Amino acid sequence: MSGVFITFEGIDQAGKSTQIEKLVKRLKKEYPDREIVQSFEPGATELGAKLRNIILHEDAISAHAELLLYLADRAENVNKVLVPALSRGCIVISDRYIDSTVAYQCSGRVLDRSTVLTMTNFATSGLLPDLTILLDITVEESKKRLLGLNADRLEQENNEFFEQVRSGYLKIAHDEKRVHVFDAMADIDKLSEDIYEVVSSVMV
Ligand code: TYD
Repeated sequence: MSGVFITFEGIDQAGKSTQIEKLVKRLKKEYPDREIVQSFEPGATELGAKLRNIILHEDAISAHAELLLYLADRAENVNKVLVPALSRGCIVISDRYIDSTVAYQCSGRVLDRSTVLTMTNFATSGLLPDLTILLDITVEESKKRLLGLNADRLEQENNEFFEQVRSGYLKIAHDEKRVHVFDAMADIDKLSEDIYEVVSSVMV
């Protein structure tokens, strides 16, 4: 596929939306002729929007059902949004993708990693990002940023859950060359400059 696929990851409140917005603005300026497609998980497709509502607001969901819902959402995102855009040669940016599942469902919920990887691979037909930006913040900072906001089902998890998710992300970054870790407590503009530098290195 001729496009470039970039994903953003991190625990809740890491500042992904802000950095994605800044990156898109910069890419539009630097590559005015290139189509940029933004996506997100869960919820970017028609079916995904329904699944998102269930995932984030249903009272209690078993860990296995939760995994399957995220993967159903992802299969739709891959087939209806990501692959068509990448085939058209677009720059595609997704707010969350496969690493969210490994960090939240394997490290957070403690589901078996190799089973989840096999299932994820099935849902995505093996589509991997060219680059993943991992925004790392402490759990204390994440909880602080959440204060006063309406927390969804996942955001209501305790600190231990988020510590496991954060460690899970850092382990992925250690194992996977495509994942670059950034200190998300750094100055917002400096952070976006640093992110752009890495992004420009994968542009084709
Ligand atoms: P969302 O409101 O989109 O959060 P954020 O703005 O932080 O991305 O909610 C998505 C939630 O779902 C978030 O808590 C992470 C979680 N999640 C998983 O547990 N597994 C997954 O595979 C994905 C994509 C998200």
